[in-house]
Amino acid sequence: MKFIVGNWKMNGNMESKDSLLKSLKNIHTDNKIVVCLPFTLLYGNNYGITLGAQDISEHTNGAYTGDISGQMLVDADVKYVIVGHSERRLYHNETNEIVCAKAKAAIKNKIIPIICIGETAEEKHAGRTMSVVKKMLLESIPKTGDYIVAYEPRWAIGSGQTPTTDEIAAVFETIYKALSGIKRENTPLLYGGSVNGDNAKQIVSIPHVGGLLVGGASLKSDTFLPIIKSID
Ligand code: PGA
Repeated sequence: MKFIVGNWKMNGNMESKDSLLKSLKNIHTDNKIVVCLPFTLLYGNNYGITLGAQDISEHTNGAYTGDISGQMLVDADVKYVIVGHSERRLYHNETNEIVCAKAKAAIKNKIIPIICIGETAEEKHAGRTMSVVKKMLLESIPKTGDYIVAYEPRWAIGSGQTPTTDEIAAVFETIYKALSGIKRENTPLLYGGSVNGDNAKQIVSIPHVGGLLVGGASLKSDTFLPIIKSID
């Protein structure tokens, strides 16, 4: 079973949500499909499709204007939440420490956090990918509870560029070894960054890749369904 997780980011409306979820409803797959929507789209008919959110407050409740708590996500029947996406780390200054606190808040509410890590283009060119990824991983994951880790090289997001198969394999080996070292080798590991219907199958066949985190191509059924069908 592979995970195929859509990340809508700040896109879509009720109509486009309805259209995608309806098309997913008719698909037969053994893989786990999750669609992470903007907060306002989480309510309403989900056609039986598992929904995720894209952020969660590390706090339980209180004076945190604009934030959304774990309990609020539970109310909306959310089962997964993306934490520490590179756009949140970049535009909202989320550190590994904050990401870890958010992951803990999700776990406390029985929501599975999808913890994102990945190097920048500068770090890659400086030959620092492995050390950066390992540090982000070990500082962002909580000590207890179930979680998913998503490796998304920042330079691959929305760019149409992906690492080579060998590069992805090397990073996943590093992540797997680091998690094995703390007896968390069963953690599902996702790849994200410019996934499409043409590269999905090859990426999920790389050792330790347990699924995909899909941004732009998850917005419409004519680009999301080919990804799902290609790895069935
Ligand atoms: P992308 O985004 O598929 O559009 O590159 C992936 C992500 O940011 O999760």
